[in-house]
Amino acid sequence: MVRPRSFVILLGAVAAVSVVRHGVGIARRKTVPGGILIGDAVGYDKMSRIVLGSFFRPVAADVASIAPDGAGVLEVGCGPGHLSIELARRHGLDMTGLDLDPAMIERARANADRAGNGSEHAPSFSVGDASSLPYPDGSFDVVVSTLSMHHWDDATAGLAEIERVLRPDGRAVVWDFRSGVWPFHTHLPDPVEATHGSPLGMVSATPWPWPWKLNLVQRIEMTSADRSSGNSRSVPG
Ligand SMILES: C[S@@+](CC[C@H](N)C(=O)[O-])C[C@H]1O[C@@H](n2cnc3c(N)ncnc32)[C@H](O)[C@@H]1O
Repeated sequence: MVRPRSFVILLGAVAAVSVVRHGVGIARRKTVPGGILIGDAVGYDKMSRIVLGSFFRPVAADVASIAPDGAGVLEVGCGPGHLSIELARRHGLDMTGLDLDPAMIERARANADRAGNGSEHAPSFSVGDASSLPYPDGSFDVVVSTLSMHHWDDATAGLAEIERVLRPDGRAVVWDFRSGVWPFHTHLPDPVEATHGSPLGMVSATPWPWPWKLNLVQRIEMTSADRSSGNSRSVPG
């Protein structure tokens, strides 16, 4: 008979091994043509359920607030699909998710099936590269991306493609890590730099209060350059 204390210790050891195993897999990156993939899609999926729920809910509410009713929305670099699923289920948006990593798209499809969306609000997920989006010009009202742009080989080309697939009065909103924020991605350039030379123009770039009030991330809203004149930029703090 296993005593309760031994059982708790055993459970703790199993959890610790699992966290370390997945943590190592997540931290291991794989460079492929187009960008950088996460080493362990299954581990990232599990981690993101726990860690990123508090990030995705306000992001989804923000996207829903700028998207017209029933809007067509593309998520670039959707990973295991949690944001797309939230936007489709809770906000009724017509979601398409795209990711370079076939393993992430497999997770996203499984998560959407498990979420029991029914056919009406099920996002559709495809494998693809931000720098050559497989959609005709002017296909979407809104394009979003979270924590992915710093993985793209050519972020400026990705933003040009986003501009191409947006409808004339469409919006693009990207959330990505601010530069030099310890301890995450201290080496990254300011994601706003990727917008220079892109046909998308800046509407605003503002720190995003996550996690808690630490502002590790910034929200960058863009539109076609010729439509953005007169818009202001809030420089991230
Ligand atoms: C850190 S994960 C973020 C996933 C998800 N958006 C989230 O917030 O949890 C970065 C994702 O970007 C994807 N990615 C990397 N390069 C890409 C590219 N060129 N086009 C599309 N997706 C890309 C990776 O496969 C990975 O799923």
